[in-house]
Amino acid sequence: MNFDPVAINLVGKTCLITGANGGIGRAIAEHFAALDARVMTTDVESEFKGDCDSLHQAFDLASPSGLNNCRDWITAETPDVTVNNAAAFDMGSVLDADLHQFDRLYSLNVRAMYGVMQASAKALVQAKRRGSIINLASQAGHRGEALVAHYCATKAAVISYTQSAALALAPYGIRVNAISPGVIDTPMWERVDQLFAKFENKSIGQKKKEVGEAVPLGYMGRPFEVARVAIFLASDQSQYITAQTLSVDGGNVLR
Ligand SMILES: NC(=O)c1ccc[n+]([C@@H]2O[C@H](COP(=O)([O-])OP(=O)(O)OC[C@H]3O[C@@H](n4cnc5c(N)ncnc54)[C@H](O)[C@@H]3O)[C@@H](O)[C@H]2O)c1
Repeated sequence: MNFDPVAINLVGKTCLITGANGGIGRAIAEHFAALDARVMTTDVESEFKGDCDSLHQAFDLASPSGLNNCRDWITAETPDVTVNNAAAFDMGSVLDADLHQFDRLYSLNVRAMYGVMQASAKALVQAKRRGSIINLASQAGHRGEALVAHYCATKAAVISYTQSAALALAPYGIRVNAISPGVIDTPMWERVDQLFAKFENKSIGQKKKEVGEAVPLGYMGRPFEVARVAIFLASDQSQYITAQTLSVDGGNVLR
């Protein structure tokens, strides 16, 4: 039998997580550290709030200079695993959501995602090392929503870049996959809930309750449930998986 039940560890791997002070990013950083990875975190905030050791640097990835500085850091450190997790959410009807909102979401959710992914891939190719890149997509990337056009489109772009990059990087042994969360209870959802309250005239907490109850598994996901899938994609347990988008959504999206 070719199966080692203790093989899931990240010993010897340097793992970078962006947006690491958020709900999902922090859980991924802590889970990776628990599996003995050398963890690198970045966030727009200067201190890492997670409960583990981490090499932390603050960058505003939505700004060209912040992204460039982060890319320099990546070039210097050559992470084996990169988790492109930082993203922003906003809402507005297609008639009202302006180009400022478009620029704000694209600069982080797409431009920075691509810039970080490219820098990580280049560093690995240069070092002649294999690696795993994990991009956070969303169930929103699988279909449009009347009030969420820009965010949905940025997440569709994440899925598309994941596929293209996976094909381009396969010859180098670099795998690229995406995780597509459904509704996960994080600080982002506090903002999402407030926006739905405004746009759909709901009370605070109402949308969050509704979306949780609508999940086939019956509840809103928790950050650790996404982190467990990130472990799988980061580790050699998934060595034959690339160019895929794995839904972690309790059954919300059927494809
Ligand atoms: N929570 C969900 O229900 C859900 C669903 C689908 C997809 N996702 C995706 O999962 C990922 C993590 O989401 P989350 O819910 O943990 O979000 P979150 O809002 O809790 O965390 C996002 C983190 O990104 C950081 N950040 C924001 N702007 C930044 C910038 N300009 N530069 C650098 N860092 C910045 C924030 O400080 C924060 O720590 C995102 O890509 C999100 O789109 C989340």
